[in-house]
Amino acid sequence: MQNIKNRDHLNLNGRWNYIIDPYQMGYLDYRQKPFDESLSGEGGFYDNRIQQEKSERIEYDFNNSPTLKVPGDWNSQVEKLELYEGSIWYKKDFSVDKDNLKRYFLHFGAVNYEAHVYLNGEKLGIHTGGFTPFQFEITSKIKEGDNFIVLMVDNTRKKDAIPTINTDWWNYGGITRDVTLVITPETYISDYKIQLAKNNSEMLEGFVKLEGKNLPQNLKLEIPEINFDQTLSINSEGLSLIEIPIKNIDLWSPENPKLYEVTISSSLDTVSDKIGFRTIKTKGKDILLNGTSVFLKGISMHDENPLVEGRLRGEADMRMMLEWAKELGCNFVRLAHYTHNEEMLKLADELGLMVWAEIPVYWTISWKNPATYANALAQLTTGIERDKNRTSVIIWSVGNETPIKPSRNQFMQNLIKAVRKLDDTRLVAAALEVEIEDEEIKVEDPLGEFLDLASFNEYAGWYWGEIDKLPEYEFSIAYDKPVIITEFGAGALQGFHGDKNTVWTEEHQAYLYENQLKMLEKIENLRGMSPWILIDFKSPRRQHPVYQNFWNRKGLISENGQKKKAFFKLQEYYSKKNRD
Ligand code: GCU
Repeated sequence: MQNIKNRDHLNLNGRWNYIIDPYQMGYLDYRQKPFDESLSGEGGFYDNRIQQEKSERIEYDFNNSPTLKVPGDWNSQVEKLELYEGSIWYKKDFSVDKDNLKRYFLHFGAVNYEAHVYLNGEKLGIHTGGFTPFQFEITSKIKEGDNFIVLMVDNTRKKDAIPTINTDWWNYGGITRDVTLVITPETYISDYKIQLAKNNSEMLEGFVKLEGKNLPQNLKLEIPEINFDQTLSINSEGLSLIEIPIKNIDLWSPENPKLYEVTISSSLDTVSDKIGFRTIKTKGKDILLNGTSVFLKGISMHDENPLVEGRLRGEADMRMMLEWAKELGCNFVRLAHYTHNEEMLKLADELGLMVWAEIPVYWTISWKNPATYANALAQLTTGIERDKNRTSVIIWSVGNETPIKPSRNQFMQNLIKAVRKLDDTRLVAAALEVEIEDEEIKVEDPLGEFLDLASFNEYAGWYWGEIDKLPEYEFSIAYDKPVIITEFGAGALQGFHGDKNTVWTEEHQAYLYENQLKMLEKIENLRGMSPWILIDFKSPRRQHPVYQNFWNRKGLISENGQKKKAFFKLQEYYSKKNRD
C-alpha cells in the first residue's frame, strides 16, 4: 500500500517482549521439523506451547521476558546481542475497537532478515529481505478488543540470500522500521504514481489504483496550489490511468525543492501526499535535471546512526545525516547498499537532495540460483513501488561491485530490464568495478552498455596505486556516458594526526581526497561523485584494534560526530564546483 503514514492507522512501535532462540525452539521440534508446516493453520510457537500451557510445563513466558525497542535493531540495544546472528521472538499486545465496515492491514517498514508473522497465534506468513516493507491484510483475523502479534525474526546470513553472507556492514537484526496497523474503508486507494512524463515537463503521467468491491465511477485528483482539479474515470479493475497536460508547475531541484500537496479522493477514500515534479535524463555525457545539465555533488551513506549506535531510528536521526550532507555542499546522496527508510526519501525530497537508491546485490551472490534472482527482483520491485512518487530519487541502482562473468551479466541485465519496465522516468545504474593496468584505470565492464551512467568505484591510493601519483593516472572508459564515481576514499582515525604519508592520519585521508579530486577532474565526462563515506560505520570486517575496532574509518565524520580534515577538502571542492 502506498503512503502508510497519511492513512488512518495505529502505531504499534514501542517496547516489544522478546525471547532469544538460537536453536529455534519455538519453531522446530527436536527433529528440526517446523511446528507450523501450514501457513494458514494453527501451529508454530503457539501450537506447541499452547499444548505445554495445558500441561503447565511452560518453558517460555513472553510477559515476563525483557523488552526491545521497536523500531530498532537488537544488536545495539543489548550488549550480548551485539554480534548475535540467529532467531529472536517478539511479542506485542494491542487493542482495537473493531469497525466492521473497515479493513485492517498489518504493515512492517522493514524486518531483518526473515520474519515469520503470527496474529493471535495464527500464522499470517513469512517475509524475506531486511530492507523493504511488507504487509498482511488481517480484516478477518483481527478481534474486537485484545490482540497480539508474534514474530520470529532470523538474521542468519545465507549464501543464496540478498545480501549474501559477506558484506562490509553490520548485520543488524530485528524489527528495524515502523510497525503500523493501517485501517482503510472497504474500497480504498491502494496505490498511485503521479509524476511528470519522462520527456515532457508539461505532462502529468501515472495511475491510481483502488481495491475493493464498491468501485466508484470516478475520483478526483487535486493540486490546489496550482488550481489543478481533475475528475478521472475508473475502469472495472479499479484502475485510473493519468496522462494530463499540466501548467505552472514549479519544478523541483536542489536549489528549489518545491513540493506540492496532492490529494486523491474517491467517494470512499482520500489520500494526500507531498510530491515534487522534475524530469531527469541523460544526453550524451550530461545528466539533465529539468533539461539543464547538473553535476551530482554527492556522498555515500549507510542507514546507521553512529552517535547512538544502530540503525537510524526516526526522523531526527535521518535529518541529522542529510543535514551533514548539505553542510558538505551536497546536492546528491548515494543511499548504500540497500533500500533505506521511506522517511529518508521524503526528507531528501524536502531538503533538495537527489538520491541514488540501491538494492543489496552486493559483491558475489548466487547468480545461477533462480530463488536468489526472485529475491533480488522482489526487493527491487518493492523499493521502486514504495518510492516511485519520491521526486528526490533520480537513479535506481541494481547492485554494487559484482564480478564480470556470464551468469552475473545475465542476472544484472534482467534486473535492468525489470527496472525499465517498472519505471522509465528515472536513470538505471550500478556501481561497477575498474581494472588497473600500470597507471591506467579501465572501465570496460560489459554491463555498462545497458546502463544510463558509467558509474564505478575506484580506491586508487588506498587499496591499490600510489597516493602521490594519483594526479598522473589516466582513465579509459569504454562508454561515452555521464561518469559518476560512486566510491573512492581512505580510512582515518579522527584525532590521529601526522604527516600526509602516515596512513590512518587525518592528513593522509585529506591528501588522498586532494589527489583524487585532481585525478578525477581530468575525466571529461565527469558528472558527479559520492565518495565513501559520510560517516564512520560499523563493520565486522574491520578488526584493527587501534585504528578500527569494528569501525570502517572511511567516514569524513567520526562516530562521535567530529569532522575530519578531508570533510573540509571535499566541502571546498563542492563550494567551487558549478551546478553543471
Ligand atoms: C567497497 C564497498 C563498500 C565498502 C568499501 C570499503 O567498495 O562497496 O561497501 O565498505 O568498499 O572497502 O570501505
